[in-house]
Amino acid sequence: MMTHASVTPTSYRALIVREAAGGFTRQVETLDPARLPPGEVLIQVRFSALNYKDALSAGGHRGVTRRYPHTPGVDAAGVVEESSDPNLRPGDQVVVHGYDLGMNTAGGFGQMIRVPAAWVAPLPSDLTPFSAMVYGTAGFTAALALQRLIDAGLTAEQGEVLVTGATGGVGSLAVALLAQTGFRCVAATGKLDQAGLLQELGAVEVIDRRDLETGGDKALLKQRWAGVIDTVGGPILAHAIKTTRIDGMVAACGNAASADLPLTVYPFILRGVSLLGVDSANCAMARRRQIWEKLAGAWKLTGLERITRVVRLDDLDPELERILAGQQVGHVVVDLWA
Ligand SMILES: NC(=O)c1ccc[n+]([C@@H]2O[C@H](COP(=O)([O-])OP(=O)(O)OC[C@H]3O[C@@H](n4cnc5c(N)ncnc54)[C@H](OP(=O)(O)O)[C@@H]3O)[C@@H](O)[C@H]2O)c1
Repeated sequence: MMTHASVTPTSYRALIVREAAGGFTRQVETLDPARLPPGEVLIQVRFSALNYKDALSAGGHRGVTRRYPHTPGVDAAGVVEESSDPNLRPGDQVVVHGYDLGMNTAGGFGQMIRVPAAWVAPLPSDLTPFSAMVYGTAGFTAALALQRLIDAGLTAEQGEVLVTGATGGVGSLAVALLAQTGFRCVAATGKLDQAGLLQELGAVEVIDRRDLETGGDKALLKQRWAGVIDTVGGPILAHAIKTTRIDGMVAACGNAASADLPLTVYPFILRGVSLLGVDSANCAMARRRQIWEKLAGAWKLTGLERITRVVRLDDLDPELERILAGQQVGHVVVDLWA
C-alpha cells in the first residue's frame, strides 16, 4: 500500500444520517477513517456537489439508501491518500461519482472516502477538484445527454433543442453546454423569474413549463423540437416526445416531476422519434473519462459562478430541503474543509 507524503488523518468530519424514532436525523460528526468500507483507494475529498439523489438519501429514502447510519454524497473530487492500485498514486487528483458512492457506500459529504479503484477517474490536467465539482454529476449528466444526442445524429442545423427543469443542476448545465456547442436551446422552467439567468446561460427562448403540461389526451402534438434533454419525466417528458419532430431525439435524464411516462407508441412509429436513456451512475469508465476530457477541453464552460453556490458541510441542511422542494436554482458545491 502506497501512502501520500502527508500523514493519513486519524479522524475526519462527515454528515451522518441516522434513523431515529419516527424519522431521520442529520448532523456533522467526527469519525475514524477505520470505519470506512473496504476498497483499494482512500481519498481525501476536497469538494463534493449536491444532487437530488443526495437529498433523497439524506431524508431516509430506502429506494436510494437501504442502511443507516449513512453519509450521502454521490459526488467527490479530491486527492488520493492511500492506494493499493498501481495506476492510482498518492497525490493524484481524482473524481468519483455514481456507482454506489453515497447510496450504500459512505459518500462525498465526508472528508474521506474509501472506494474500489474501478470507480476512480483521474482528473484531466485542466480540471481541479473544485472545477470538477462545479460540473459534478449534474454537469457530467448534461454532457452525457448531449453526447447521446450528438451520437444519434443531432446537429445544430436541425433546429431547436428543448431543456426541461432548466433552472435545476442538470438543466442549467445542459442549457449552458448546448449554447456553448452552437445549438439553439429553448429552456422550459417553472421559475419564470429566472428567465434572465437562463438567457445569460445561452437559452434563445424561455418558456413556462405549464405550456408543456397540456395535450395529455392527444397521441401527437404540433412538431417543434429537433432534440430534447429532459430532467423531469412524467407528463412534461410525454409532451416533449409528442412535440419532437420527425427523426428527432429525446434524452431522458431524470424524474424530478414523475417517474411515469404517459404516452402511446405513435411518436416512435409515426415520426421515428428516438428516446435515449442517460445513466451517469453506471457509465463505463472509458466513456466517463471521455466526457470529463470534453468538459475540461472542447466543452469547457466559463462563467458558471452565476449558477454555482459554494457551501460548507455545516451549512448543507437547508440546501437539502431546497432541492427536495424543487426550489434549487443552479448548482451547489460543498467545500469539505471550509
Ligand atoms: N440520469 C442520471 O444519470 C442523472 C444524474 C443526475 C440527476 N438525475 C436526475 O435528474 C433530475 C434532476 O436532477 P437535478 O440534480 O438537476 O435536480 P434539481 O437541481 O432539483 O433540478 C430539478 C428541476 O426540475 C424542475 N422541477 C422540480 N420539480 C418539478 C415538478 N414537480 N414538475 C416539473 N418540474 C419540476 C425544477 O426546474 P424548473 O423550476 O426550472 O422547472 C427543478 O429545478 C432528478 O430526477 C435526478 O434524480 C439523473
